[in-house]
Amino acid sequence: MGQNKGEQALELLISRAEIAEAVTRLARQLESDYPQEMPLLVAVLKGSFVFLADLVREIQRPVEIDFLRLSSYGGGTSSSGSVRLRMGVTTPIRGRDVLLVEDIVDTGLTTFYATRYLKRNGASSVRVCTLLDKPARRQAAIIPDYVGRTVPDRFIVGYGLDFDERYRQLSDIYVMTGAGDGP
Ligand code: IMP
Repeated sequence: MGQNKGEQALELLISRAEIAEAVTRLARQLESDYPQEMPLLVAVLKGSFVFLADLVREIQRPVEIDFLRLSSYGGGTSSSGSVRLRMGVTTPIRGRDVLLVEDIVDTGLTTFYATRYLKRNGASSVRVCTLLDKPARRQAAIIPDYVGRTVPDRFIVGYGLDFDERYRQLSDIYVMTGAGDGP
């Protein structure tokens, strides 16, 4: 069933129930992989704020969070290829295990940049947890350690992911078809 939001058509890809299952599975995996202490969760803004909020509430242990803001996409549906740091973390990360929390790993350039930034600032380990993995368009050698769902090479919106700042508030995940999606 599609949902039409103006000029773009949205096709349901992952329902909120399936997202919840993926989040629960990831939380259990993290709890078992970090038996002593949870790593510092560093979420990449803006897209991962919804995923982070659900993930921390599912993890049954004390957990600290911080945020990074990077930009790669302009206003369209394909990566501009250049990543800029817009806001760094404020938590001291030297010697800490860090888990980078991403909404989606697409080309991998953002993840590559963020991982390098965290290591340069002294993180003792950096693992990557992404809700969505879109491996078809990878340009950087990134293999996320934790993946909620692998998605096809389509433009995805909802559950934090936007197109021109729209659709972040949707509870389910959709493929965007129509304007801007290419042939
Ligand atoms: P990457 O650097 O190409 O891996 O892309 C990272 C960022 O681009 C993500 O954190 C998203 O904000 C955005 N992005 C990549 N693919 C999509 C998509 O299908 N829909 C919405 N945003 C996307």
